[in-house]
Amino acid sequence: MTENDSAAGPFLKWAGGKSSMIEQYQVFFPEERINTYFEPFLGSGAVFFYLRANDIARQYCLSDINEELINAYRILRDRPDELLALLAYHQAMHGEEHYYAVREVDRMDGWPQSADVVARAARMIYLNKTCYNGLWRVNSQGQFNVPMGRYDNPPIHDEERLRAASAVLQGVSITAAPINEAMRDAGAGDFVYFDPPYVPLNETSDFTAYYEGGFSAEDQRELAMIFKDIDRRRCLLMLSNSDTPFVRELFEGYRIETVQSQRRINSNADNRGPVDEVVVLNY
Ligand SMILES: C[S@@+](CC[C@H](N)C(=O)[O-])C[C@H]1O[C@@H](n2cnc3c(N)ncnc32)[C@H](O)[C@@H]1O
Repeated sequence: MTENDSAAGPFLKWAGGKSSMIEQYQVFFPEERINTYFEPFLGSGAVFFYLRANDIARQYCLSDINEELINAYRILRDRPDELLALLAYHQAMHGEEHYYAVREVDRMDGWPQSADVVARAARMIYLNKTCYNGLWRVNSQGQFNVPMGRYDNPPIHDEERLRAASAVLQGVSITAAPINEAMRDAGAGDFVYFDPPYVPLNETSDFTAYYEGGFSAEDQRELAMIFKDIDRRRCLLMLSNSDTPFVRELFEGYRIETVQSQRRINSNADNRGPVDEVVVLNY
């Protein structure tokens, strides 16, 4: 471990980010050292950064369906100096005009194939730090459409945090993949943590709006099938989701523990309070 490792943590804000849940999750993480740790719904990777700091595995395989997110992780791992230089530029330029100019780049012909990958990563991190609520939302054409947030000093060029994250990402496999492709190599001695977009608790819940198309009830069923399939490979599995009858039915027969989160369950931001969530385990 280098000096940077201990300070490493999520470098993005993410809907459903798990930083505040780590304390409650600690008792569920495997005690023995594992071969490969898989996190296929990566988001801001709160669980990865925690487990990596505790050196829980020999190897780490991170993935997510969001290509902009995955590109940002890969560039941070491989080209941190160039990325930081561009973020310093965004920090200096930040304001309403700059925000919307950067946001509209994905409306141009040839996006994203012809765009420079480092510029794409810097754009992703810049928008994440300055948009409303750190929300990543795209329209049906894949165009980012979140308005600018109101922050006094958004940490766009957070060099210490980004370098610490870059250091612990060295040697880590990072892939853009949907869940049904991400789990092919998981096997005996491995550990997978699944944190899918949650089953909505009510109609106003926004927990399905993570990417174009959302994550439907059918996707939740397919995920439960994947869970059962990997379970047969003698791999340790842990999964988070809302505490609803549907989720409990999907994972009937497995160990189901209840934890409390402070997440927003209503479109009214004042209506916050502890909400039960489940952790499903096959051990
Ligand atoms: C609840 S968030 C994960 C949050 C993460 N644990 C954290 O701490 O920030 C769910 C993630 O699943 C991803 N996702 C949605 N559908 C997916 C799919 N079919 N396959 C893989 N990832 C998917 C989203 O892009 C999002 O990053």
